[in-house]
Amino acid sequence: MTSKNIVITIDGPAGAGKSSVARGVAKRLGLSYLDTGALYRAIAYTLDKAAIPPVEGESLSATLRDLSVALASGRVFVDGKDVTDLIRNPLVDSLASKYSALPSVRARLLDIQREQVLGGGLVADGRDMGTVVFPLAPLKIFLTASEEVRARRRFDELVSRGQVDVDFDSVLEDIKTRDRSDRERACSPLVEAPDSVVLDSSSLSVDQVVDRIVSLAEGARSDD
Ligand code: DC
Repeated sequence: MTSKNIVITIDGPAGAGKSSVARGVAKRLGLSYLDTGALYRAIAYTLDKAAIPPVEGESLSATLRDLSVALASGRVFVDGKDVTDLIRNPLVDSLASKYSALPSVRARLLDIQREQVLGGGLVADGRDMGTVVFPLAPLKIFLTASEEVRARRRFDELVSRGQVDVDFDSVLEDIKTRDRSDRERACSPLVEAPDSVVLDSSSLSVDQVVDRIVSLAEGARSDD
């Protein structure tokens, strides 16, 4: 494993800071960043718009078979349409959690996630990066934080995006509901890979977590 083709996985619950940390680590190490949540969000948004309910069946299978999903320059496209700016809101949070529990949705997205490694090393964030998608990754992180801290971060993010009709308690409730759904689903549940390093970011800044992961990555490289 050379420094340029290392795969680092970062899994963890909503609001743990995975995407900021993964971006920071990718930048420091000159790797690509793979945001797998964006793929689940894009597909959930598209299926909902097409009035396909989040249940397994022929209409879901046929739609999944026919649609194309692509990533390019940090943007996500479904059937050629750039949906990147339409998928970061509470409605899509909840839709993505429901559709991502379905085995056929997960199977549909497996290859596209694995193909991203063909371009070189990457930092992949999601729920099953270390357990299912990249089980041989030499460095797996499970990033977590307390429910309250995660809800506060999510709340601040929504407010900074200009959402005025949010209240903290409902954001906290949403976080708990998504945690339950991500952890309890039968297919690829959110779970710590046995060989992962668990980091609690509750009282750490993004930079502190990035520093820690970069030094773990340097260690993983020198073990080759
Ligand atoms: O990381 P995120 O909040 O953008 O993820 C949105 C939803 O997608 C979340 O409820 C869990 C799901 N997801 C998943 O099941 N597996 C992944 N690898 C990434 C996200």
